[in-house]
Amino acid sequence: DGKYAVTLIEGDGIGPEISQSVKDIFSAANVPIKWESVDVTPQLKDGKTVIPDEAIASVERNYVALKGPLATPVGKGHVSLNLTLRRTFNLFANVRPCKSIAGYKTPYDNVDTVLIRENTEGEYSGIEHVVVDGVVQSIKLITRDASERVLRFAYQYAMESGRNKVRAVHKATIMKMSDGLFLNTARDLSKEYPSVEFDAELLDNTCLKMVTDPVPYNDKVLVMPNLYGDILSDMCAGLIGGLGLTPSGNIGDECSIFEAVHGSAPDIAGKGLANPTALLLSSIMMLEHMGLREHAAKIQNAIFSVLAEGKTITGDLGGKAKTHEYADAVISRL
Ligand code: IPM
Ligand code: MN
Repeated sequence: DGKYAVTLIEGDGIGPEISQSVKDIFSAANVPIKWESVDVTPQLKDGKTVIPDEAIASVERNYVALKGPLATPVGKGHVSLNLTLRRTFNLFANVRPCKSIAGYKTPYDNVDTVLIRENTEGEYSGIEHVVVDGVVQSIKLITRDASERVLRFAYQYAMESGRNKVRAVHKATIMKMSDGLFLNTARDLSKEYPSVEFDAELLDNTCLKMVTDPVPYNDKVLVMPNLYGDILSDMCAGLIGGLGLTPSGNIGDECSIFEAVHGSAPDIAGKGLANPTALLLSSIMMLEHMGLREHAAKIQNAIFSVLAEGKTITGDLGGKAKTHEYADAVISRL
């Protein structure tokens, strides 16, 4: 039927409600996509918790998925499902843009940052053990291969986006070996991308400078190891109003999963109060990734126009609109 099949992982808590907004807006905008909803609830198989085969097969078949929030347990228990998904499909680059939203006031104006996070290793390798009682080791695993893979992606992204500047963010003054490897790999690769300007900055200094004035970062692509990217991307989101307003894309060679980074908000789940903007902006990133640029632009303009007007916005942004009223307002502006 000429439509692209896309896997939909609605997620927990507010996931189904915000997914519904995406579905409604996409169908009103005649986006040529048919959704394939899958359940990723972990199942016990041979004593191990695994993602259901059907869910994996769906993503592998469709190459693209959109994902709502999945609750992550703290401390003991099974590995975060979010991480399992990234690992299962080898989604090595996590792209997190943060762009100021007209109409939503923050202490900053004109923020437009792009952060690329290594998405498979570092402190997220999950290698931890008790040495003796009261002493634990968590391994930060950095490999040249994974570093090179995400760094090449960043250089490529810099060329395609026209930013043309890559800045590696690191702490190689202290993590001499691990961050040193990442940084040296970045520096070596820069010779292969002569049209891209390369420099490096210490993570703590990046934080200080970004919260003071983020605008000088608007022409750069920041690239960094996993945990730094986790933390710094939340900070960037804070500059423009929080995780309810920022998209994210987990990119691999075969598959990609676009997701909202915010939590499942169990306190407001099922009440029709959730803000679907982050998932919507992630779905727009997904459309761009699929080459459906006109649909992406049309929906994005409609969203920004509703947010700029500020009348039909959800409670988290200081409005009174229900999730579906906001979605309807977007639809009316398509
Ligand atoms: C994120 C989240 C995840 C992470 C959690 C939910 C496992 O914070 O996508 O940034 O730590 O990567
Ligand atoms: Mn995070």
